[in-house]
Amino acid sequence: MALTTALVTGASSGIGYEISKLLAEQGHDLVLVARREDRLKQLAGYLEKEFDISARVIAVDLTDLEEIDRLYITLEQENIPVDILVNNAGVGNWGPFTANSSQKEMEMIQLNVMALTYLTKLFATDMVKRGLGKILNIASISGFTPGPYMAVYNASKAYVLSFSEALHAELKGSGVSVTVSCPGPAASEFHQQAGTTGALFLKLMPMMNATQVARASLSAMNKRKILVVPGTFNWLISVAPRVTPRKIMLFILKILMRPRGRQR
Ligand SMILES: NC(=O)c1ccc[n+]([C@@H]2O[C@H](COP(=O)([O-])OP(=O)(O)OC[C@H]3O[C@@H](n4cnc5c(N)ncnc54)[C@H](OP(=O)(O)O)[C@@H]3O)[C@@H](O)[C@H]2O)c1
Repeated sequence: MALTTALVTGASSGIGYEISKLLAEQGHDLVLVARREDRLKQLAGYLEKEFDISARVIAVDLTDLEEIDRLYITLEQENIPVDILVNNAGVGNWGPFTANSSQKEMEMIQLNVMALTYLTKLFATDMVKRGLGKILNIASISGFTPGPYMAVYNASKAYVLSFSEALHAELKGSGVSVTVSCPGPAASEFHQQAGTTGALFLKLMPMMNATQVARASLSAMNKRKILVVPGTFNWLISVAPRVTPRKIMLFILKILMRPRGRQR
């Protein structure tokens, strides 16, 4: 029999896919959420067979708050309480702010910020009523600094970091914990989607695999820790802004993150 039910957003690839596999291995039933239903169904079939758990697939575009309502109501009607919420789905976009597609950036805010906040509101409220639950939010080391040429992405992850830490403190003693994971670069579809493949900062930083990130993030969540930065190098990067003057930090970041061939 399954221990509890975990809902994972962005389960169709990368870190969310690996988190789903590890949660199934730990004996949790799953609710798998993303837009690509075919991929989710394939994963659900594999996990049910391999780990003797039940995996419910719900295809949702999380940039639409009404679709999030539909997801929540479906689970309520099917009497599936969510004990673990993993807010993992996220997108990025690399390039000069004034040249970037505003639609892409508005959708990024909808997904990285609004969907994460709304899902947390819905499921944390139920968890607090039951006096039990765990929430894992996937931010990024980008959340520790402003990001020239990824200004909206870094700001969205700074939001996730701040929001998660605040909520962790607020919910202390309620039986519900909030953990925020801040990975550095990880191999997934993210960099192709965000257009960062070939970027200088990616070449200079170690690339973890999605399983390593998933494992470190879940381990911190299971220990009800407030924050985890997977990988020693990434942890050093995360503390650097505390000792580096902001002007110097921004100067270095601008060089590292500037798209090649552009003057701005
Ligand atoms: N990879 C990195 O270097 C890195 C570093 C730090 C933090 N992160 C963070 O880690 C998280 C996972 O990223 P990843 O690296 O695993 O990237 P990924 O392989 O591109 O996975 C992103 C996931 O989000 C889902 N998604 C995207 N837009 C969606 C939407 N509108 N509605 C529902 N689901 C949506 C995608 O599924 P569908 O396309 O099927 O909808 C996919 O499952 C993100 O929050 C990212 O910001 C990644």
